[in-house]
Amino acid sequence: MTKLPPTTSRALEASEDPGSNPTSNPSIGVLIAARMSRRGFGLGVLSAAAAAATPDDWMARAADLAGAVPRFDFEEAQADSDQTHHVSPGYDAQVLIRWGDPVLSGAPEFTPASPSAEAQMKQFGYNNDFIGYVALDGRSDHGLLVVNHEYTIEELMFPGIGRREKAARFAACTPHQVATEMAAHGGSVIEVKRRDGTWQVVADSRYARRITGETEMSISGPARGHAKMQTSADPSGTRVLGMLNNCAGATTPWGTWLTCEENVNGYFWNEAAAAAHPDAAALKRYGVPAEWYMWAKFHDRFDLAKEPNEPNRFGWVVEIDPRDPDSIPVKRTALGRFKHEGAANIVNKDGRFVVYQGDDERFDYVYKFVTAARVDLKHPEANRDILDAGTLYVARFNEDGSGRWLPLVHGKGPSFAANGFHDQGDVVIYARQASDLLGATKMDRPEDVEANPRTNSVFVMLTNNSKRKDTQVDAANPRADNRFGHIIEIKPDGGDHASETFTWDILVKCGDPTIAEVGATFNPLTTKDGWFANPDNCAVDALGRLWIATDGNSAKKTGRTDGLWAIETEGERRGTSRLFYRVPVGAELCGPCFTPDLETVFVAVQHPGDSDDDEPASTFDNPITRWPDFKDGVPPRPSVVAITRSGGGKIGA
Ligand code: FEO
Ligand code: CA
Ligand code: CA
Ligand code: CA
Repeated sequence: MTKLPPTTSRALEASEDPGSNPTSNPSIGVLIAARMSRRGFGLGVLSAAAAAATPDDWMARAADLAGAVPRFDFEEAQADSDQTHHVSPGYDAQVLIRWGDPVLSGAPEFTPASPSAEAQMKQFGYNNDFIGYVALDGRSDHGLLVVNHEYTIEELMFPGIGRREKAARFAACTPHQVATEMAAHGGSVIEVKRRDGTWQVVADSRYARRITGETEMSISGPARGHAKMQTSADPSGTRVLGMLNNCAGATTPWGTWLTCEENVNGYFWNEAAAAAHPDAAALKRYGVPAEWYMWAKFHDRFDLAKEPNEPNRFGWVVEIDPRDPDSIPVKRTALGRFKHEGAANIVNKDGRFVVYQGDDERFDYVYKFVTAARVDLKHPEANRDILDAGTLYVARFNEDGSGRWLPLVHGKGPSFAANGFHDQGDVVIYARQASDLLGATKMDRPEDVEANPRTNSVFVMLTNNSKRKDTQVDAANPRADNRFGHIIEIKPDGGDHASETFTWDILVKCGDPTIAEVGATFNPLTTKDGWFANPDNCAVDALGRLWIATDGNSAKKTGRTDGLWAIETEGERRGTSRLFYRVPVGAELCGPCFTPDLETVFVAVQHPGDSDDDEPASTFDNPITRWPDFKDGVPPRPSVVAITRSGGGKIGA
């Protein structure tokens, strides 16, 4: 059998390969030993935070909090793998909107056999990822859904393409295909209403919006106007067309949508130009160019020989006002440039706004941003530019359970200036290299990082890192060849999310707990259906309970598709997980998003039918599932699903 070329999704996974983080930041053990030898041994010389971080103290604190977060109560779904989705008994899973369904007025019918860029610009995009709910009039049955469309998969979107090598794909690609792919990227704003228990998309809504790979956006913050942001189309370095590879995100208390650019390296071309580039090392650190999409064939800005600075204009957090379809999205550069997973956030007890972020690459970092100003909850418009001023930090996890947020501030810390950083613009554009200089901890692919306002805990999803070697393990990344991922819980010192110090512990090491060598640490109360691998997105619901969406399970790897699991975080049931919903074969689950009344959870079923197996190769013409339509000629369609309790009531309570 001939080995087929890799799928787009496989390319995305492979892009997290090592090589872009060349630093040898010392392992935590080395750092601790060095510190101990400088200061002498003994508890008396440890910081209060470190001294409080013994496992016994941790458990005592967890016991204190027990009761603050109620337990889950639902009948578990069954872990398995088949062509459709399944939800816990007593719940309904309704497909709300699919790739190709109308978003804007006058959108044509979905005609998969004859794809059209003009139609796609008015229709729901491909590969829905993050979902945010913005209530209208404070309601839980009427609001806006903001949805990211992360990336496209040509062999599942277009008839007759199949799986081909890069050169053949480049030769065959048409302007029409590229235009359709660009239109299928970005995001959608839809208005949704629940009537008689059923959710509907409001037709001809005045809020409806499609954002694509070509929507005009502005650039704000320290990199605005920077020399490294200037191009021939934008000599001012203040305007950019489109947002790309928008993975997870968040909504803010002032009603905006934060949407995060992740694997943007895949859109850029020209190895020779990259090698000759004045910032060749920086391009390499960011994996540019990866040449997965053929857009450079028709758009000069994706060719490094023609536009050497264009990659610097991607990899940001974008803020969008979903209530105003004419508003111009803003790339908020103060939050740093890297492969952003999400931007979950919390209003700190002193009123400052704190955004937690993961850089999803093997051996990359966990970040947070703390605004300089306090959030004005009474006047939403007063927070319009609050994300432009503040401090970006990167995390160091110490071996003893303590940790420190290291400020990425030009003029502070290790001489950024001596290492080629001329200003704060350089620091945010090349946040990865700035973090390398600070000695941040190299993590196992940080995905979502989400705070729990009830307990002030912060949960970090570390999805996997099969490249970590025995010699590279540390306390925060304790498994070599970490194929199943783990979850870290951070406790900011004093419950203060602006604090530069914290303690941390591992909530769970994932994978099959019945296989000793996997080393999973789920609570023994977890059933055969309840364990999971590869945590990716997460959500803390209104009761303070933690839900985990996964990316990377399959029949072959874990005997189950991806899905949504609930995991207890407090008291003696801490680490007990159970399955609530699972996706069709080939999909990952993204964007769990609860309405404020906890009666609905919206989930994004991304890339159903996507498989890197060669036999059979899953393609538009011969997919391994046709979920959710199951009609001949209709390929699998990424879709948003609304899950409610049959007859009404709170989810899982
Ligand atoms: Fe787009 Fe890190 O998942
Ligand atoms: Ca994804
Ligand atoms: Ca993700
Ligand atoms: Ca992922």
